[in-house]
Amino acid sequence: MPIFLDSSNLDEIERFHRMGIIRGVTTNPTIMRKEGVTGGMSGIGAKAKAIARLIAPLPVSVEVITNDPFKMIDQAKMFAGWADNVNVKITIHGPQGELENLEVIHKLEATHDIRVNVTAMMSAQQCFLAALAGATYVSIFGGRVNNMGYNACGEISKLRQVLDAFQLRAKIIAGSTREVLNVIEWLGAGAHVVTVVPDLLKGMVVHPYSKETVQMFLRDGAKVEESLEPPKPGKQ
Ligand code: E4P
Repeated sequence: MPIFLDSSNLDEIERFHRMGIIRGVTTNPTIMRKEGVTGGMSGIGAKAKAIARLIAPLPVSVEVITNDPFKMIDQAKMFAGWADNVNVKITIHGPQGELENLEVIHKLEATHDIRVNVTAMMSAQQCFLAALAGATYVSIFGGRVNNMGYNACGEISKLRQVLDAFQLRAKIIAGSTREVLNVIEWLGAGAHVVTVVPDLLKGMVVHPYSKETVQMFLRDGAKVEESLEPPKPGKQ
């Protein structure tokens, strides 16, 4: 399941889903807002349900919009009720470093059987703890890690080693893509998934030399089509 789409744009999701190259979708409140989602929980619900329907049975991650542990559980239960393929995103800790989120994550996975994607993580050690708490997915923000002057590949590879060594089931999602190269390099470092913004996915497909080659094939194909006589065998 190597590539997820980091977007809540239905046209983009449908387009890449039709190509068969994405295995899931991730969203967050910032992505939703950028896409024009308003109306609180009903706006988020409408968008999340539309994405879930579009890509089912592939997973879509939807993030809670509260920092209150009780409300997080309520929102998570509501999200999980929207569709079977909705996963719930919870940040690793609160805005001031509050620690209650790990307990919420553990409770959602262990008691409520809700798949959690733990998000906004910048290091292998954060992801390791989220995996121990029982998270289905641990999201490390590779682009932000690199922007802070650390090495995302190093964190991802250390993380993969400990997950495998302790047989933890969490899957690593590397997000916060900034460059086309991030996809292959983060998968190579050990991420199970890279969640990619649509523009970078387009950038992965299109190559200037491929364009030139396709143009040559079409030009010559048109000439072959125009020519009246078939070429003599051996004279090409
Ligand atoms: C991942 O799940 C997040 O939605 C996303 O990749 C965050 O990226 P950003 O650093 O561009 O906000």
